Amino acid sequence: MISTDSDRVLIFDTTLRDGEQSPGATMTHEEKLEIAQLLDEMGVDIIEAGFPIASEGDFAAVSEIAKQAQNATICGLARANFKDIDRCWEAVKHARSPRIHTFIGTSPLHRAIPNLNKEQMEERIHETVTHARNLCDNVQWSPMDATRTEWDYLKRVVEIAIKAGASTINIPDTVGYTAPVESADLIRRLIAEVPGTEDVIFATHCHNDLGMATANSLAAVAGGARQVECTINGLGERAGNTALEEIVMALKVRHDIMPWSTGVDTTKIMNISRRVATVSGFSVQYNKAIVGKNAFAHESGIHQDGMLKNAETFEIMRPSDVGLSETNIVMGKHSGRAALRSKLKNLGFDLADNQLNDVFVRFKALADRKKEVFDDDLIALMRDTEVEHSNERIQVRFLRVICGTEAPQSADLTLTIDGEDKQVTATGDGPVDATFNAVKKLFPHDAHLQLYQINAVTEGTDAQATVHVRLEQDGRIATGQASDTDTVVASAKAYVTALNRLLVRLGKTAPDADVKAVSYKDAG
Ligand code: KIV
Ligand code: ZN
Repeated sequence: MISTDSDRVLIFDTTLRDGEQSPGATMTHEEKLEIAQLLDEMGVDIIEAGFPIASEGDFAAVSEIAKQAQNATICGLARANFKDIDRCWEAVKHARSPRIHTFIGTSPLHRAIPNLNKEQMEERIHETVTHARNLCDNVQWSPMDATRTEWDYLKRVVEIAIKAGASTINIPDTVGYTAPVESADLIRRLIAEVPGTEDVIFATHCHNDLGMATANSLAAVAGGARQVECTINGLGERAGNTALEEIVMALKVRHDIMPWSTGVDTTKIMNISRRVATVSGFSVQYNKAIVGKNAFAHESGIHQDGMLKNAETFEIMRPSDVGLSETNIVMGKHSGRAALRSKLKNLGFDLADNQLNDVFVRFKALADRKKEVFDDDLIALMRDTEVEHSNERIQVRFLRVICGTEAPQSADLTLTIDGEDKQVTATGDGPVDATFNAVKKLFPHDAHLQLYQINAVTEGTDAQATVHVRLEQDGRIATGQASDTDTVVASAKAYVTALNRLLVRLGKTAPDADVKAVSYKDAG
């Protein structure tokens, strides 16, 4: 049992549950297993693997993660009813260390939704926590929207949950409303005033709507919380959750004034951050603390000069502390297989020989088009390789565009759809619009484009462009990203990736399209 005197803070990662709830961040089964394994290996204490009753897919992922985890406690989320809790237990029970996390909204606004009065809600909390506890020794309970719940009522419900057997009480700031002073005070007063808290761990779960999630979580720790709930890259609904990397690094770098530690191996941060960005389709903003592309970049002359003389002049942590290789050794068309393998290993990609062969061919093709291949180019190349190997239903096979000052711009596109090549020419307002129109002609769909964004991976006119696309249909959202030195090709691939993901979510089959099928065998 961790007491408030302990200097150990448990890290509870909810990337696969709260993070995945972000519109468009849905991950595949295999991606969830991979992220869970990385979390387990990096020393996260508790992994909230999903919401088992939400779907068959969630249930399967939580069960599989529970079976696979070697170190972490595996937790599933359940609403305050027996059906949810039973389903959650069925999924997590395979774990070496299982946990059921059940919650109910306790603020006046949330109480109104199930239309329960205070007494009925108290009864529900007592029954559901008792039920969960009969199934599992390790039960976490959360009063959702705790920070907008009346103080006396919050104390009352926390006491009921503790008496019913919850061993972790999580205090969510569901809408990111609290501020650091209040966050510390709330936990401190709950621990002091609610009977029975000495045997319970208090957790803090903050959302970032006002940009204070990390500050609020650390303040809660100062107030006595010994579990911080967070996500990689701060992924999560709206403005996201507390970022795991920020908590772990803040506690490490400012141990002098925040004398608490975690069990996380910080050198694994960059790798998992990149993986989560890739599989969720949510890229990390350049100036994001700890994991942003610019977090360790020094641009101005004064800074660069200072860095060369003594890195500590402008760096409070070393890039290697978070697993960033300090030298960005540039690769080029003369680089060999061994150099590529070692470079990729440094970037967190440990490849078998057959995988390396394939990646090497792609690397050479890129190096032919681009003088210098940087770390970010290789990361983009690895991400695209994975997408192409994932047996997507629709794949970009060929694209040629005509663009320039004279309209109409047009795109000649061939897609492989369910194994068959189909070709069409479409026009549009510019080459990207023409390309997207061509995709729509080949695979008619009603999705609408919510986001189209281009970023240069590195610098120079030969730089690769990474394109992000977000599509929406019937309230379902899917994102795709792809990189290429040709921006229009990257756009086509990103669009098709998003479309593939959307189709999985909508459970769609190929519609009939009035286009001709082409055979590359015939073309020679
Ligand atoms: O933000 C929140 O309140 C939650 C609960 C389910 C813990 O995510
Ligand atoms: Zn949340």
